[in-house]
Amino acid sequence: MTEIPKTYRVKSFGCQMNVYDGERMAELLGAEGMRAAADGEDADLVVLNTCHIREKAAEKAYSDVGRLRREDGSKPMIALAGCVAQAEGAEARTRSSMIDLVVGPQAYHRLPEMVAEVAKGHRPVDTDMPAISKFGALPARRKVGPSAFLTVQEGCDKFCTYCVVPYTRGAEISRPFADVVAEARSLVDSGAREITVLGQNVNAYEGGLDRLIREIAKIDGLERIRYTTSHPTDMTDALIAAHAEVDKLMPYLHLPVQSGSDPILKAMNRSHSAESYLRTIEKVRAARPDIAISGDFIVGFPGETDEDFTATLSIVDSVRYASAYSFKFSARPGTPAAQMEGAVAQEVMDDRLQRLQARIAEHSLAFNRATIGSDTQILIERKGRLAGQMIGKSPWLQSVFVETGAEIGDMLDVTIAQALPNSLGGVIRSAKAA
Ligand code: SAH
Ligand code: SF4
Ligand code: F3S
Repeated sequence: MTEIPKTYRVKSFGCQMNVYDGERMAELLGAEGMRAAADGEDADLVVLNTCHIREKAAEKAYSDVGRLRREDGSKPMIALAGCVAQAEGAEARTRSSMIDLVVGPQAYHRLPEMVAEVAKGHRPVDTDMPAISKFGALPARRKVGPSAFLTVQEGCDKFCTYCVVPYTRGAEISRPFADVVAEARSLVDSGAREITVLGQNVNAYEGGLDRLIREIAKIDGLERIRYTTSHPTDMTDALIAAHAEVDKLMPYLHLPVQSGSDPILKAMNRSHSAESYLRTIEKVRAARPDIAISGDFIVGFPGETDEDFTATLSIVDSVRYASAYSFKFSARPGTPAAQMEGAVAQEVMDDRLQRLQARIAEHSLAFNRATIGSDTQILIERKGRLAGQMIGKSPWLQSVFVETGAEIGDMLDVTIAQALPNSLGGVIRSAKAA
């Protein structure tokens, strides 16, 4: 028997959807009368909201658990949540005796009752993926920052051969249109000025992502809308048109291509070719010429030759990404690619990753330099490292540093004065009240 915890800390890793889930878990625990532990304070309950996407991320979950042992030998109550919890289930409890409960991403509405079970001496595991969604069982949104996440679609039916998401998040499910619009309103009432609509394949949202964007754009007080992540084959003309027509929709698109080589794309089961992807980008740019394109890449997929990799560098040059994430292939248990022949040697992967990242950085810097001298707006999100310095986001999702007395949540008119590969320096023109 232990006591019901009085304080909690939720630590989220992985994608933005995990961050969203972490916020919702915190709200659930708050509704039970627990409070967030202060910085530096030991929490009675620690929720590790984990990511399973690559081996390193998954292994980190267990080293993080180990680090929760206190100097006096005691430990907080530990909940393993997120995609590692889903993938490993009861096995996680065996791998680490410190874990008190295991809860998957579709079951976390049950977190408070599972905590109560732990207090009674049990070690519950819930990795069910109920047909009835968790969302109906969650409390209302509470105070949020100026930029908020809103999950509208979850799970994935695409089964890219390298990816665990269809297994850890389950089948593609879209939340009802009216529920999502209501949550968007409550986020704005709670202080959000920007909403990023989330889904593993957000542009496959059943109610129509373009319709949803147009609807939430009507909310007074909401100034910016973003969405992520999109799949190239679900980039409809209606959604592309929204980029031309909806002022609040920001000029930024994260559209992962993964590789520039068709044989590799086929082996990945990506359902798009390099050329069809480039055609989509062209249409998007026709609708919104200044749009910042971002993407994801995997190097060293089984069977990737030098020629395949050269095709990837070449698509980077064609698209001229404003930013992009790139990863070494990580064989994930249970995925088809983990069984494929033609493993690429580590040194080759390291070399390709380095060359790819250097190429992407050139394009990022060029994109950022092109904005020098332009007048734009930034939404202040956090303090900078230097006194008097704040950091806000441009419409193109660049981080912009400014010297200002403005506060988090303010929208400022700035002129871009300086460009680095990952950030910009701005000068205030005038401040608009929050
Ligand atoms: N649903 C999104 C995000 C998937 S995960 C999408 O379809 O793009 C985010 C990125 O992680 C992927 O785009 C891919 O580039 C990378 N990734 C996924 N599985 C991986 C693996 N096994 N090895 C290396 N990178 C991987
Ligand atoms: Fe994973 Fe592919 Fe689904 Fe993205 S589309 S979540 S990469 S299976
Ligand atoms: Fe990671 Fe799960 Fe997101 S595996 S990337 S936390 S969907």
